[in-house]
Formats: sequence, C-alpha cells, structure tokens
Amino acid sequence: MNAEPQNVLDYRGDNTIFLVWNFKKDLDVAAAFRRICALVINLNNSGETRFPDSGALVVMGIGYEAWLRLGLPTPLPKELVNFRPIVGAKHTAVATPGDLHFHIKGASSSICYDMAAALALILDPVAVPVEEVHGFRYWDGRSIMGFVDGTENPKGEKRAFFGLVGDDDPAYRGGSYLFVQKYIHDLKAFKALPVEEQEKVFGRSKDYDIEMTDDEKPSNSHIALANVGDDLKIIRDNLPFGNMSTNEMGTYFIAYASTFSTVKKMLDAMFIGSPAGNYDRLLDFSTAKTGSLFFVPTASFLKNVASGTPAID
Ligand code: HEM
Repeated sequence: MNAEPQNVLDYRGDNTIFLVWNFKKDLDVAAAFRRICALVINLNNSGETRFPDSGALVVMGIGYEAWLRLGLPTPLPKELVNFRPIVGAKHTAVATPGDLHFHIKGASSSICYDMAAALALILDPVAVPVEEVHGFRYWDGRSIMGFVDGTENPKGEKRAFFGLVGDDDPAYRGGSYLFVQKYIHDLKAFKALPVEEQEKVFGRSKDYDIEMTDDEKPSNSHIALANVGDDLKIIRDNLPFGNMSTNEMGTYFIAYASTFSTVKKMLDAMFIGSPAGNYDRLLDFSTAKTGSLFFVPTASFLKNVASGTPAID
C-alpha cells in the first residue's frame, strides 16, 4: 500500500491556527466525521489550486478516545494512547483531552480563517472548540522569547524518516504522531535576565543563533536536554502567540514524529531531568497549559473514511 500522507512535512506557514475540538457526549458523530474527512481533503486540494505558493493547508489529527468512539480501525496505531501527565519535582507536563486537532497554515491569514470557519460549520452541532491559538511567524523565525526556534529540525529527506510512521507499523505507514502543548511564558522574568543568562537557558546565542560548545552549554539548558540523540529527531512546527490584554505570551509547541516514544524521551528529559532533578531551565519561564497526543492518518485514510470504504487495506 502506498498511502499518501497528510502534509505534515511542509516548512511553510507564516500564519497558523491551531484548533482542538471535543465531541459532545451522547451523539452519533460518525456522519459529521465523514464530512470533516471529505472537507479536509477538499480544503487542501483547493488551497493548493488557489494559492500554490502560499502553502495553504490543514492537517487533522485524531485523539485516542475519538478513535475508539468513531469506530476507526483496530488495532490502533501502535503508540496512540491518552497522553498521561509527566510530573517532575518542580514542573508538570499536564495532559488535557482532545478529540480532533487541526493545524491550519498559510502565508495569508484570510485562507486560514476561511478554512477554520468551514470546519467549524460542520463541527459546531456535534463538538465543542476547546482550544484555539493563532500563531504567527515572529521576525526571522523566533520564539516569543527572542530565540530562533526550529534550527535543528530535520531537513530534506530526513523529514519523512523522522516525521512519518515507517515499516514497523505497516497498516499506518505514512501517518504521524502529533503532540501539542500550549505554553505560557513568564516573559517579564526571562527578559529581566542579562542576555548571557538567557543564552544559557537555551544553549545558543540570541542574535545569531549559534550553538554553544559542549564545554559552554549548561547541562540544564533546553537544547542539552531536548537533544536525546542524533537518531531520535522530531519535526517541530512551533509558532508564538501573544495577547496584551490577557498578558498571555506563549509558544504553541507542535511536533510530528514517526514514534511518540521519541517525543516522550524529550519530555522526560525536560520535566523529570537528566539525570533526574536536572530539569530544563526553560520550564522556569514556561508553563504547559495543555498537552495532548493525536494520530495523523494518511490522506488516503481520510478519503476512504469519507467515501465509506474501509479506512485501511
Ligand atoms: C516551552 C516551549 C519551547 C520553546 C520556546 C522552545 C524553543 C526552542 C529553541 C529556541 C530551540 C533552539 C533552536 C532549534 O534547534 O530549534 C529549541 C530546540 C529544540 N527543542 Fe524546543 N522549545 C520548546 C519546547 C520543546 C519541547 C516540549 C520539546 C520536546 C518535546 C522540544 C524539543 C526541542 C528539540 C529536539 C530541539 C533541538 C535540540 C538540538 O538537537 O539541538 N522543545 N527549542
């Protein structure tokens, strides 16, 4: 089977809307879900035709509970479970429920808005929107904390290797594990640090994004802990957001991966620490408000659901 993946490997996306919808209880949601699958395919085809250079696209992920409720194929993707909190001595990666996740992106915010509105029209009767974050590209790809975010992401062919399920789960080959967390930063405290101290939090220079040498890099810096090995990478597509009226400045962390266990290793190192207790100093300035795992099946899977044929061969 040569299933066509959803477009989880695309680089582009200056404007993004991240959405989580949860199904209402005691309703038959199967028909609405079939329509959503058809709409996701339609929106992607249309986005590519109308705005070929803008990277207008939407990726849909499905949570564990929703997978079961929708009667999607069993056995499930091998690592699809409900995300469980990771509790460190000082910081916790919380777990929050999520049935469907939409990652909408494009150079123009108009197309992102229209895609979100089209999805909401079908979802509204059967589901509740529980999260909505509008992310934007901040200067030269910086997080709202001022450091360039994404530099060490896999490039070229390696993106498919690290981002898509391979032969170890043949029924779901071409799918992807999607993990998201909404972080709120204490920017006031972070900005109060001298720049050299801020750089030690990340392990890179601020202006020119240069990695510290192993001798310079503190063991509790973000990149020292998040780097769990050259053979264990993920595709990060984070974008910042900011709201002056609520004073919520944050990062929507979003990762696509061939296995969830890689993401889990990174989270363990960050929250519990490596060794335990040596946790990620970035967390002293960042609080995870959400945390959910989804599976992104292939576009072929969505087409099959939409047409009422078995979702996988
Ligand atoms: C609090 C929200 C976060 C912010 C603001 C953030 C920001 C950054 C920045 C600025 C870098 C350095 C440049 C780069 O290579 O991208 C980085 C690297 C990285 N981050 Fe994060 N990050 C966050 C959360 C996470 C989480 C939750 C994970 C994993 C579950 C993660 C995994 C990584 C990895 C794997 C690298 C590359 C490490 C390397 O090989 O050098 N990050 N992050």
